[in-house]
Amino acid sequence: MLEKIKQLQNEIQEFAVNKADELENFRIKFLSKKGKLSLLFEEFKTISSEERKNIGKLLNELKNAAQEKMNDYKQSFEEVPQVNENNKDLSLPVNFVELGSRHPISIVRSKIIEIFSRIGFTVSEGPEIEDDWHNFTALNFPEEHPARDMQDTFFIQKNPDIALRTHTSSVQVRVMETEKPPIRKIFPGRVYRNEAISSRSHCFFHQVEGLYIDKNVSFADLKQVLLYFAKEMFGEETKIRLRPSYFPFTEPSAEMDISCNLCGGKGCAFCKHSGWVEILGCGMVDPNVLKNCKIDSTIYTGYAFGMGIERITNLKYRVKDIRLFSENDFRFLKQFTSAI
Ligand code: PHE
Repeated sequence: MLEKIKQLQNEIQEFAVNKADELENFRIKFLSKKGKLSLLFEEFKTISSEERKNIGKLLNELKNAAQEKMNDYKQSFEEVPQVNENNKDLSLPVNFVELGSRHPISIVRSKIIEIFSRIGFTVSEGPEIEDDWHNFTALNFPEEHPARDMQDTFFIQKNPDIALRTHTSSVQVRVMETEKPPIRKIFPGRVYRNEAISSRSHCFFHQVEGLYIDKNVSFADLKQVLLYFAKEMFGEETKIRLRPSYFPFTEPSAEMDISCNLCGGKGCAFCKHSGWVEILGCGMVDPNVLKNCKIDSTIYTGYAFGMGIERITNLKYRVKDIRLFSENDFRFLKQFTSAI
């Protein structure tokens, strides 16, 4: 009997299984009711009780090994489907998966971050759901001030007010409350406003805010950094112009134009024949804001600026309708494949 078990063991080991139907032959030959293993188990019933213990163990081991071999093959056939049914040539090269592209807003955001990181600005972010203090009050917007009307937004809760932030200036406050000067940072992020959706405005868009707080920071520093940015983003020949403006959290405040990058400043329909296009708001951080954030305004000064990423992208890639950025239209998005 020992001899037979050994022989069967060899036979099972050597049985080659390459296809699913050969596996069925294997099962019939060894594991079925009339298979070789069953025959041996029949014989097992006739042997003397001294032999039983040892032989029984060997027989069971053999049966388990055969079962295991069958399960392994079964699994491997299930995992690798027989794709060659139609006589396909499996050695042919695969179809290349179509490469996606980065969203134009992401491309421009990365470019802005890269330009400022070269002169020592690092990135911080803040929450999109913001309280009244960080979005308005700490930024020197008095409770009933009309400046709040320019930035109406979507409220999540009233008293205390929690709303979707209207600008990334809220991150200025968060950073000044928690970090000590010198601070040299930019804050990219999404912002919201209650505005009618048109080709020029949307209820959500993106901004990058900049903040620099240190001793002896002057308006000249601000202007130089913005000139550097404009040249890096739009080309060496770009000029800038600062126009006086108003923001509650900067004093003095300005709006910055760049020379129209379409006509080079000569005047065209795009720049309404003025030669200039507006790209951002900026100014020296108001001492009241520093005070609200517990920074000593007799020691420190600073500047801040904020730009809309959509606006910069429109200028850089000549996109005429801001709605294109959020419509998920492949025909639009595909055009940025080579801009990665
Ligand atoms: N937060 C302003 C806006 O959204 C932009 C700005 C930022 C102006 C920083 C001055 C300084 O319009």
